[in-house]
Amino acid sequence: MKKNILIVPGDGIGQEVTAVGKKVLDKIAAKYGHEFVYDEALIGHAAIEATGNPLPDESLEKMKKSDAVLFGAVGHPKYDNDPSAKVRPEQGLLKMRKELGLYANLRPIKLFDELLSASSIKPEILKGADILFFRELTGDIYFGEKGRKDNGDTAYDIAQYSRYEVERIARKAFEAARTRGKKLCSVDKANVIETSRLWREVVQQVAKEYPDVQVEHQFVDATAMLLIKDPKRFDVVVTANLFGDILTDEASQIAGSMGMLASASIGDGTGVYEPIHGSAHDITGKGIANPMASVLSAALLLDISFGLKKESEDVINAVDQVLKAGFRTGDIADSTTPKEKILGTDAIGLEILSRI
Ligand code: IPM
Ligand code: MN
Repeated sequence: MKKNILIVPGDGIGQEVTAVGKKVLDKIAAKYGHEFVYDEALIGHAAIEATGNPLPDESLEKMKKSDAVLFGAVGHPKYDNDPSAKVRPEQGLLKMRKELGLYANLRPIKLFDELLSASSIKPEILKGADILFFRELTGDIYFGEKGRKDNGDTAYDIAQYSRYEVERIARKAFEAARTRGKKLCSVDKANVIETSRLWREVVQQVAKEYPDVQVEHQFVDATAMLLIKDPKRFDVVVTANLFGDILTDEASQIAGSMGMLASASIGDGTGVYEPIHGSAHDITGKGIANPMASVLSAALLLDISFGLKKESEDVINAVDQVLKAGFRTGDIADSTTPKEKILGTDAIGLEILSRI
């Protein structure tokens, strides 16, 4: 199979972890006789520095033309404490999601058994947890009108959803539930928020097309609590953009670390595959970032965009084998991990490569 893959490292540890993700794709290509052709593009702070624009047209064009995008992270601490900055790295990410129509963000929360003790949640609560989040990615308060009034003393962000936006993400989630435990939990705040009332109404309607899937509606505050109390009760979860952002960071602790969680953003065109973690400038350049989320994102890319199931499983198994052999990056090590088993980004990458 011949495919064009665009590598978009972005900022901070995005550079370090996508380098490992790319090597994994290379190894898969060599092993299975595929030809992957790579190009690179700028986004985020790196793009602002080079061009003044967090998503230059050239990058967007390359994304649209490629068969899949392996994405790193965006962000830079210099903007975090400067609310007045007009041009921000995150704008590049949001524009990419909108322009590529990436309305469905899949965030699988799967715990590798070897990492049971890496989580701060008790092992007996965690064991067997396996959740697939569908976060809506191109609507909600993220993309509504925002601004200031009253001489800047009042600020507003409008949360907005249209029926078709809820329908299409709900359908994706129901379809996935069908192939898994046949349980879907739709999360909203319909007791307070109007967009949530529309959300619930639409999900109830779509549910009629999937009588074989058991549906539950939850308020987001209850979900936040239940994820920690009893993560095993969840199978597929579908929710709006902002709730999904927050709940999946929380749920990453079920998998031991943000450094383990991959995601797939899909729509009608090119899919984008990225870790759920950020640019992590506190550890950038130290060579200690966990590349597994990027490697597992590459696995999702192979499976979802290219339909290469066997290749994808090969990558996931390699990660599993590395964990079984006792190797850890700092974020997933615990007090029982021997010092010599704690590896940096490249070294653990080599362990993964050697097991493919
Ligand atoms: C994520 C990130 C982004 C988001 C930020 C960087 C804009 O937190 O992908 O989860 O909020 O969507
Ligand atoms: Mn987030």
